Amino acid sequence: MEDQAEKLREIMRHKKNSSGISGYSGERTGKKNQAANAEGSALQRDNRKTRIITVTSGKGGVGKTNLSVNMALAFARLGKKVVVMDADLGLANVNVMLNIIPKYNLYHVIKKQKSIHDILVETEYGISIVAGASGFSQIANMSEQERQDFISELDTLSFADIIIIDTGAGVSSNVLDFIAAADDAIIVTTPEPTAITDAYGIIKIIAMEYDPVNIGLKLVVNRAKGAAEAKSVADRMTNIAGQFLNLKLDYLGFIYDDQSVPTSVRQQKPFMVIDPKCKASLCIQHLVERMDKNRLVEPAGIGAMFKKIFNRT
Ligand SMILES: Nc1ncnc2c1ncn2[C@@H]1O[C@H](COP(=O)(O)OP(=O)(O)O)[C@@H](O)[C@H]1O
Ligand SMILES: [Mg+2]
Repeated sequence: MEDQAEKLREIMRHKKNSSGISGYSGERTGKKNQAANAEGSALQRDNRKTRIITVTSGKGGVGKTNLSVNMALAFARLGKKVVVMDADLGLANVNVMLNIIPKYNLYHVIKKQKSIHDILVETEYGISIVAGASGFSQIANMSEQERQDFISELDTLSFADIIIIDTGAGVSSNVLDFIAAADDAIIVTTPEPTAITDAYGIIKIIAMEYDPVNIGLKLVVNRAKGAAEAKSVADRMTNIAGQFLNLKLDYLGFIYDDQSVPTSVRQQKPFMVIDPKCKASLCIQHLVERMDKNRLVEPAGIGAMFKKIFNRT
């Protein structure tokens, strides 16, 4: 992996010298992304500090949006600038959970009616959100020029320390590309056998489609009765992933099944705000502290990530 990363850096250094275009080293490049990545980026800025975290699952309704939003809040409390991007095509609901009605979304950016800056909504909780609902389905139909312009536009988000992307459940190619291009890809499951089976399904597809060595897959067990139950779910999954897929799946932690979660959803306020000391909040805080400690020395950055995604659609 070291060798590969060094080779790519070398390519990019060469590119930079010969064309004046700066690019990203491609440390986490997946199998499919290498070519696109080595092509060089139109992005001029040094935007490598943004850490991109995707949250995904096999099955819907396991807690992705709650995790994304509340994790964002916990990172914000550590002094980070955080953006939550809603990339769930089917059930976009980050805004609903925060009681926000966005006027515009990424669709308007793609159509050049609005800039990212225009659609970014600052919330009262110190995090910003990007509504993506109908926008993402348009990406496949973009011309090369539109795509390039869009990537440059997304670069506006490089002010953020952390971008959390709440993806849809399942295995659409959009979702897979997000996962493969992220610095951290969190897979959420609950202890229910159906959720575990579906989580395993998506992990298996990631392992087959991409070079799993380069993807930092992390597992979160949501709605657990306690640490022991979560650990046994995690052990089973990490063992199977290691044994059959040769894939390293890190167990990041668990979240209690906690009545505060549905209560907060109904009130359209994050549980980290309504009840910062509830079991679910304490678990989120713990997860985020762990992630912050395991921070990558050099995250890929927003430009690199979106270039990887959109250059291969
Ligand atoms: N830790 C939890 N404890 C109790 N209920 C939860 C928990 N996490 C999620 N839920 C319930 O599951 C529902 C779906 O969560 P959500 O975050 O919208 O899932 P997803 O984004 O994966 O579809 C929530 O509205 C809530 O009622
Ligand atoms: Mg959701």
